[in-house]
Amino acid sequence: MTSAIRPQHHPEQLPRRMIVIDGIDGSGKGVQSRHLLQAFIDAGESTILTREPGGSPAAEDIRQLLVKGDPDKWDAMTELLLMYASRRTHLRDTIWPALAAGKWVISDRYADSSRAFQGIAGKLGLQTVEQVHRLVVGDFEPALVIILDLPETIALERTRARGDDEDRFENKGGDYHARVRAAFRQIAATDPTLYRVIDANREISEVNADITQTINTHFELQLKALQGSR
Ligand code: TYD
Repeated sequence: MTSAIRPQHHPEQLPRRMIVIDGIDGSGKGVQSRHLLQAFIDAGESTILTREPGGSPAAEDIRQLLVKGDPDKWDAMTELLLMYASRRTHLRDTIWPALAAGKWVISDRYADSSRAFQGIAGKLGLQTVEQVHRLVVGDFEPALVIILDLPETIALERTRARGDDEDRFENKGGDYHARVRAAFRQIAATDPTLYRVIDANREISEVNADITQTINTHFELQLKALQGSR
């Protein structure tokens, strides 16, 4: 892909138009990201929705290694390296070219998942994640990170009801997910200008209204929230 922005082209100077929706498994990121994409499109804004792990053809190949099989198949360090291999190709092939083309990018998960899952819940430590992050990603940052927060017990119920085979992380147990939830809250508290925590233990339309308002305020946009349920 010759048009892709290469790291030497200073991705940290790209327009600050990347929004991340992150949080524990079952927090409703998927549905909220899709509604947000629709709101941007309805407002006439050129926007892509992407996800991690995955988000480009090669990164989706790596995703398959990560999300299926025995929870102990990889240790936290191997998970981290696979996540960052996937993130690197996602940035190079999807995110950076979209930002360079003037589009908004909405990502269902990004680097804070590595900090929360591998760094804190997986006990590698945030410093280790930061070292890898710096090496692989450099100074590039999203503009806003929305953390959807709710008790992990309720969230895990939701994921079980979904019943797909991408359950490797879900099977890591309640203690692991309690640490993930606490980790996201801890990370969000480090930088209130970048992070917003939103209560996700509510109706889809209420969470959507909160997300829409947060984005409108931050970017001076006038996106419309869902009317009731859709
Ligand atoms: P995701 O597709 O968001 O799963 P779900 O739709 O079930 O929420 O992510 C798959 C799993 O990958 C999820 O359990 C979280 C985990 N993950 C990490 O552990 N570290 C990371 O850096 C990322 C991006 C995801």
